[in-house]
Amino acid sequence: MAENGTIENGQPEKKIPFVPHPIKNLEVKHTKVFINNEWHASVSGLKFPIYNPATGTKICDVEEADKADVDKAVEAAKSANLRSSPWRKMDVSSRGRLLNKLADLIERDRVVLATMETMDTGKPFLHAFFIDLEGCIKTLRYYAGWSDKIHGKTMPVDDDFVCFTKHEPVGVCGAIIPWNFPLLMFMWKMAPALSCGNTVVIKPAELTPLTALYMGALVKEAGFPPGVVNIVPGFGPTTGAAIASHMDIDKVAFTGSTEIGKLVKEAAAKSNLKRVTLELGGKNPCIVYADADLDLAVEEAQQGAFFNQGQCCTAASRIFVEEQIYEEFVRRSVEHARKRVVGDPFDPRTSQGPQIDQEQFDKIMELIDSGRREGAKLEYGGSAIEDRGLFIQPTIFSGVKDHMRIAKEEIFGPVQCIFKFKSQEEVIKRANSSQYGLAAAVFTKSMDKALSAASALESGTVWINCYNALHAQAPFGGYKMSGNGRELGEYALAEYTEVKAVTIKLTQKDH
Ligand code: NAI
Ligand code: MG
Repeated sequence: MAENGTIENGQPEKKIPFVPHPIKNLEVKHTKVFINNEWHASVSGLKFPIYNPATGTKICDVEEADKADVDKAVEAAKSANLRSSPWRKMDVSSRGRLLNKLADLIERDRVVLATMETMDTGKPFLHAFFIDLEGCIKTLRYYAGWSDKIHGKTMPVDDDFVCFTKHEPVGVCGAIIPWNFPLLMFMWKMAPALSCGNTVVIKPAELTPLTALYMGALVKEAGFPPGVVNIVPGFGPTTGAAIASHMDIDKVAFTGSTEIGKLVKEAAAKSNLKRVTLELGGKNPCIVYADADLDLAVEEAQQGAFFNQGQCCTAASRIFVEEQIYEEFVRRSVEHARKRVVGDPFDPRTSQGPQIDQEQFDKIMELIDSGRREGAKLEYGGSAIEDRGLFIQPTIFSGVKDHMRIAKEEIFGPVQCIFKFKSQEEVIKRANSSQYGLAAAVFTKSMDKALSAASALESGTVWINCYNALHAQAPFGGYKMSGNGRELGEYALAEYTEVKAVTIKLTQKDH
């Protein structure tokens, strides 16, 4: 074989793709509250059941934390955050090495974690393995690299003074995690918090706490001092609310619904004015111009709409297509949707699993009905898959109008809504007429059109000729009611550090 990867006769080398296999009958070992590197029964003695959404079967019971457990976890996190603590006295380079060690352990146990994530969420195993776990490892390694590079500035100040800044940890950071990307959202919050030297109290979603609890074991194995990471599985109105209103939590990061995001901010204001970052909903416009590469646009827009069973804050939920190519785009989208395989998430051919629970399933079916009633044209799907519990057909509506509920509300299910537009001015105005501003996409071959749309769109992320292209190095967050603050990238460090200005009076005159 030649060095460039071709074989001698000029034929490209045939690489056999690596296909991981899930673990059969995986046993769940970690179901307790994780505080101070130890496993605890809940203070109340209560437990709650965890179900597999693909089969409806119970996986296990998990200890149910509430306010009393949050108090214990915060106490541990506070002690671990004292200036005299091993964590705060640790060399910054050692902090980075610990984060990298944790990433090594996740790589070692990647199949276990991906299997567990699939059992818990119903997302296809290959997506969990290649997308969620990849994102977790890359996020940890990225922030491991920052640990010894978080520094202040020296600035010229008036008169005879020298002033420099130090970027210090905020303190105890709370995190409230959703169920759509349980481990990835855990990592987006934990990795920058630890990289900056904070300690954390994390509440996984009540529907999907298993991979977060497994992380407790890996945190301990990696060698983090006790109290640096604490994990409290429990419900929103009890455990989540206790974090948001805690007097000794200095910052809270939340991902979830706009409704609860408002409550978290209110609770922070009414308690100790803790810092709040929010990553909330989206109603993300995806604009396809007539000059776009049509195959690419059809593929990416549909993947954007259906990825993770449509349960994404970044879902391509408003697809605006220029009138010249509208019919063709709809036709090809339907053709494309026919190829999707809905079913057992452990089957490697599956592209779509079940919705997370009955409540979300009912919300999606009700919104699909509203689309029909309000006059959108159902091009494909539109029903539950009979006798299959929480599975919904990939669904496509054309002729969607801006006033319809499916055009305004977050559906959070596998529903693609296609709108028609005539001019750039019109489409930008319509794209921006939303309370949300999380993500947007533009498909065109004209760099001029793409860049002018990118400037005009009111949104934290703009993808050009791609969709859902997220990177640990790039910031993510929303304009308007999609949230406050940024996760990922260098920008997230500012959310997890306090800036201290140190000013020194000089008494010696210049020579
Ligand atoms: P949710 O906002 O209720 O849940 C998200 C997290 O917040 C969970 O950990 C939950 O336990 C916690 N929580 C709930 N009530 C709380 C409270 N009072 N105080 C503190 N924490 C609390 O979202 P839910 O009910 O699971 O889904 C409803 C809708 O929210 C979805 O249909 C979707 O539209 C949206 N959503 C958006 C997500 C995103 O990625 N931005 C993720 C999950 C849901
Ligand atoms: Mg809720």
